[in-house]
Amino acid sequence: MSSEHAGERLQKVLAHAGIASRRVCEDLIAEGRVTVNGDVAQLGRRVESDRDEIRVDGVVAHVDPTRRTVLLNKPTGVITTAKDTHGRPTVVELVDAPERLFPVGRLDGDTEGLLLLTNDGGLTQRLTHPSFGVEKEYLATVEGSPSRGALRRLREGIELEDGMTAPAHASQPTPGVIRLTIHEGRNRQVRRMCEAIGHPVTRLVRVRIGNLADRSLAPGAWRDLTPGELADLERAIDGAR
Ligand code: URA
Repeated sequence: MSSEHAGERLQKVLAHAGIASRRVCEDLIAEGRVTVNGDVAQLGRRVESDRDEIRVDGVVAHVDPTRRTVLLNKPTGVITTAKDTHGRPTVVELVDAPERLFPVGRLDGDTEGLLLLTNDGGLTQRLTHPSFGVEKEYLATVEGSPSRGALRRLREGIELEDGMTAPAHASQPTPGVIRLTIHEGRNRQVRRMCEAIGHPVTRLVRVRIGNLADRSLAPGAWRDLTPGELADLERAIDGAR
């Protein structure tokens, strides 16, 4: 935590982070909507973007320019780890950024779809903390076509060897494809849930994390999150608490 006389002016830091123009950021501060380390900030307040926790309307603002968070569309065959002991390609190698980024949670080697990587330890902690659990939406292609009763079991909770699953959203947009939304992150959870209703998964794609979805991101492609997406993600984390 820094002294309030060190660093840069708060409105400049907020504007640099893409929160709004400097003028609008001044208004936000004057309206008492910005806090620094828990205290309502006054105009003229100085901050250090790498130390101070800044919130706008109660939502964590990502103001530290050294922090980077990217969204990857993970293809199959790529391992969610920083370094694979068997020499297989990893998600960290796919995201060729100068910063050391770490995956947030994991997708199985044979699962495709959206994965966040970041060097923001606080964000990782908030996203992976079991009591927050932002929604994650999957499209699972399965063997056979699940009955309405089978989908109901997915919704109401399934007894797995590590306990009951929490209530989930489940639908079948086309026969043999289950759209499943869960907010837990247990190991191979979607595969085990589908297996338990007698419909093993043949293809699994994560299509949404909280507010984040991107159909135009090709497999293997990645991009930085926008300031707006980061703010929405923080709101999703707050909402899941
Ligand atoms: N559930 C699974 O079974 N696998 C994943 O990769 C993610 C969720």
